[in-house]
Amino acid sequence: MKVMVIGGGGREHAIIKKIKENPQVTALFALPGNGGMADDCTLVPIGATDIPAIVDFAVEHAIDYAVVAPDDPLVLGCVDALEAKGIACFGPRANAAIIEGSKAFSKNLMKKYGIPTAAYEVFSDADTALAYLETAPIPTVIKADGLALGKGVIIAQTKAEAQAAVKSIMEDKKFGKSGDSIVIEEFLEGPEVSVLSFTDGNVVVPMISSMDHKRALDGDKGLNTGGMGTVAPNPFYTKDVADRCMKEIFLPTIDAMNKEGRTFKGCLYFGLMITKDGPKVIEYNCRFGDPETQVVLPLLESDLLTVMQSVTNGTLAQTDVKFSGQSACCVIMASEGYPQSYEKGFALKIPVEIKNSVFVAGAALKDGVLVTNGGRVLGATATADTLQAAVDKAYAMVETIHFDNAFFRRDIGKRALSAKEA
Ligand code: AMP
Ligand code: GLY
Repeated sequence: MKVMVIGGGGREHAIIKKIKENPQVTALFALPGNGGMADDCTLVPIGATDIPAIVDFAVEHAIDYAVVAPDDPLVLGCVDALEAKGIACFGPRANAAIIEGSKAFSKNLMKKYGIPTAAYEVFSDADTALAYLETAPIPTVIKADGLALGKGVIIAQTKAEAQAAVKSIMEDKKFGKSGDSIVIEEFLEGPEVSVLSFTDGNVVVPMISSMDHKRALDGDKGLNTGGMGTVAPNPFYTKDVADRCMKEIFLPTIDAMNKEGRTFKGCLYFGLMITKDGPKVIEYNCRFGDPETQVVLPLLESDLLTVMQSVTNGTLAQTDVKFSGQSACCVIMASEGYPQSYEKGFALKIPVEIKNSVFVAGAALKDGVLVTNGGRVLGATATADTLQAAVDKAYAMVETIHFDNAFFRRDIGKRALSAKEA
């Protein structure tokens, strides 16, 4: 069976390593992948949003199954285009990927179907938004409607900051057309939980919960990043919370998308906040999270490709999706300066013994040598019987990996560990 994975980061590397475990896979391609994956698959230099080239490649190489991992090709209709050529895919069609592609859409969906989320208003012109801010409670949260590389959310601590955010998104077009509309919403408080789920539109099967660490520096300080590390499971996601989420959020969301004629098939990511009034949705993503995937998939005991195919075929209810009872920790090693400016091109040395536990995000092969090529360079994931052991093991791995100007947080898992003791 010939499989291709669209995307090129650490999440895709984790997916590729897991798919490779299936003995039926005879060829595995990454479009474009990155140099750090070269031992696990064939790299194809086609960009993740170059949909015509992706479709041509799939047809030419008689690809049997395609996994479209990143948000932008999903929102742009990559699955629709591949399916039109008869290629089976994992991932939602564009009309369902809109659940991430437009925050105005997802907020309106939640309002219409009574799914708990922060109170909000949608604005399509700056003057009305600014007038609303005159009486809005502070802090307040301003979000660009469309995709903004995870940077389109501003938590304003003062009215002046909120006004500046509205102006930079709507007037200066900081995020381009993604800022034609904005959502202004209530500031929520509580621990955050990421729940990735498989859904075929009939049933929803949550994966093991996880916790991201979005800020660049220890103690949740510094700028927001794509994620500096993750742990799973998330101790704030208790059985009680999980039951409420299933009843109040997961099933109603699948149902709502079906009623809207936008059946979602693929991985639906629920970004949740556990507030004192119960779990609420912070955001939906139409894909696997990064770096959540790097802790979730190593704990998956079932065969990933089989589960993915059951999502495509609508037979998820009859398919085993089992997770081990262990814990996992992923520490991201980034280039000093990320998420702002940083240097690239440093030789990257990963000891062979730990290669299978390292998911490479930003690296390239240059004259046969692996060199750094991005802000987030890699994630080192360890699994163990306890979270403490997983954290210790992940940091021990980090000590054996080398590239110049490497930088990482030293407190991944700390909040989860203290919650466990509390
Ligand atoms: P996002 O890019 O949508 O994941 O949002 C980035 C981060 O902003 C989230 O992980 C939350 O920590 C925070 N955030 C988003 N919406 C809210 C909200 N309504 N209240 C408090 N924090 C929020
Ligand atoms: N880790 C957050 C995301 O993938 O959006």
